[in-house]
Amino acid sequence: MPKHGLILVNAYAPELYTRQVSRLKEELERRSAIMEVKRNNEFSANIKNSRTDIAFPYDFCVFLDKDKYISHMLEKAGVRLFNTARAVEICDDKMTTHIALADSGIPMPDTLPAPLCYDKTAKPDAAMLDAIERKLGYPVIVKAAFGSLGNGVFKADDRAELEYLCEQLKLQPHLFQKYISASHGKDMRVIVIGGKVIGGMIRRSDNGDFRSNIGLGGSAEASDVPQDIRSTAEKAASILRLDYCGIDFLLGDTPMLCEVNSNAYFDAFENATGINVAAKYAEHILSETGE
Ligand SMILES: Nc1ncnc2c1ncn2[C@@H]1O[C@H](COP(=O)(O)OP(=O)(O)O)[C@@H](O)[C@H]1O
Ligand SMILES: [Mg+2]
Repeated sequence: MPKHGLILVNAYAPELYTRQVSRLKEELERRSAIMEVKRNNEFSANIKNSRTDIAFPYDFCVFLDKDKYISHMLEKAGVRLFNTARAVEICDDKMTTHIALADSGIPMPDTLPAPLCYDKTAKPDAAMLDAIERKLGYPVIVKAAFGSLGNGVFKADDRAELEYLCEQLKLQPHLFQKYISASHGKDMRVIVIGGKVIGGMIRRSDNGDFRSNIGLGGSAEASDVPQDIRSTAEKAASILRLDYCGIDFLLGDTPMLCEVNSNAYFDAFENATGINVAAKYAEHILSETGE
């Protein structure tokens, strides 16, 4: 019996069929799955008479969204999600990712959460700024907890810049992190599927930016993955129970885990490495969904 699967995309995504979606659909169909693509508002999901009420006539869901309400409701209704609701939720927030991975022996830059703020008239607290300076020094990295594509990642070179960023970000969850100078404009992205690293690429900024994201002018080149990065990446994916992820490593004296992307785009990775990521993920999904 062929398996029926749904690829779920965010309700407000500008395009339904991105290359990521089409590639996954194609590789799953090539392996005899019957696939549909929908936005997360295109089927009925609600709580009715105190019970989760969802019409979901599929065997599994490739969850390309990050919407935690729909993912948790689908799981309550017994749907197998790739990735699972908890994994996506933890990775969506860079601070909860670091907390989940702390105490596991995984090297990460020293990281401080900014206290959550609910008052738009509040001013950054001088004692907090003192503590950041004392613990992390300058330059210091300031990151929005829910940013992506390098857009919410900033560097403060002095107290005035730090105070400005704190003011700008105060109503968004954010964190402060030690700046790893040896990794300026450079990092390694690896992809892990079904617990195994499938390959890696080095990303380098071509315009002097300290961030190596490709969307900000970085370029990518296939790379062997050293054993320490490989085992750390596999350990992180296992702790976070990810079926699929892209993990960024800062390349200092010891490689340090920078962030875990549960919804990593794989276009640039496929282009740089020649690895068929969609095929490997499709194989994993079908092996996990049984006969
Ligand atoms: N602590 C740090 N020290 C030096 N560079 C960093 C640090 N954190 C992030 N970067 C750079 O910024 C880029 C984007 O940061 P990242 O945490 O991966 O956020 P995003 O989700 O926006 O990609 C990284 O790929 C890396 O090049
Ligand atoms: Mg990143």
